[in-house]
Amino acid sequence: MALREPLTRLRHVVSSEQFHTEELAALFARAEALDGVRDQRLSQRIMASLFYEPSTRTRLSFESAMLRLGGSILGTEAAHTFSSAIKGETLEDTVRMVSTYADIIVLRHDQQGAAARAAAVATVPVINAGDGPGEHPTQALLDLFTIQREVGHIDGVSIAFCGDLRFGRTARSLALLMAQYPGVRFIFVAPPVVQVGADIIARLDERRVPYTLTDSLRDVIGDVDVVYQTRVQRERFTDPSEFEQANSAFRIDRNLMRLLRPDAVLMHPLPRVDEIASEVDSDPRAAYFRQAANGVTIRMALLDTLLW
Ligand code: CP
Repeated sequence: MALREPLTRLRHVVSSEQFHTEELAALFARAEALDGVRDQRLSQRIMASLFYEPSTRTRLSFESAMLRLGGSILGTEAAHTFSSAIKGETLEDTVRMVSTYADIIVLRHDQQGAAARAAAVATVPVINAGDGPGEHPTQALLDLFTIQREVGHIDGVSIAFCGDLRFGRTARSLALLMAQYPGVRFIFVAPPVVQVGADIIARLDERRVPYTLTDSLRDVIGDVDVVYQTRVQRERFTDPSEFEQANSAFRIDRNLMRLLRPDAVLMHPLPRVDEIASEVDSDPRAAYFRQAANGVTIRMALLDTLLW
């Protein structure tokens, strides 16, 4: 098994826009080669996970990926409370210290730009595991890998991003990543209060990616290869009435799935609340649990690329 094909050596992973299509193809090939592998290639390496916001998938899949490659892990969750942040230590000072304890830092933080701040002072690679409403680039990598596996290609894919596109960092990062591929087409489906931000629209205009905005999933669901549903991020709203407007928008149930093409897939970065009815889970087009499982594989490939 050839696992050492040349890759551009990454240092920090802050934004999905850092990755170009050739590098993504190499990363995905490495992920396919590492799928199911357990070995000791990172046995001399330590990964620190610093999580200032809750997580199930991202933290545990990174830790699983590191352990499957023979590495060691340390870290803190609820870091605002359980690290010296509660004593007033800055993120920068924490990252300076953890750089001396580990070979790589996986950081989730509630503030947009936190990963870039950490990368500016770290002496080891920093991976952005979500920075507030900013980005979640490794989620975008596993999402794109899932599209390649489920749809069979990325070029020419049409995708409806649904739900909270204002605060939802996963949709933002995936849109930026996919925008590099020829023939892709985006539909942003959300009520105005959580429609996609002007910064993403500006990037798509620069890249001449075709897109439309709508608030009706029913009108477009039969017209796409991928539906990417997202949770409304209650924790990021300061105005409860805005949250209610966004949250009552739409829910994908068995009836709506009847309009989805037989060869299309339904994705969701998870966690879901009630924006996808559990009755949909048994539909073979419901790819979200396979998508989450791909997180281990793609993070193994990323750690292997950065550390081996
Ligand atoms: N998709 C995702 O980031 O999930 P967690 O918040 O559980 O890590």
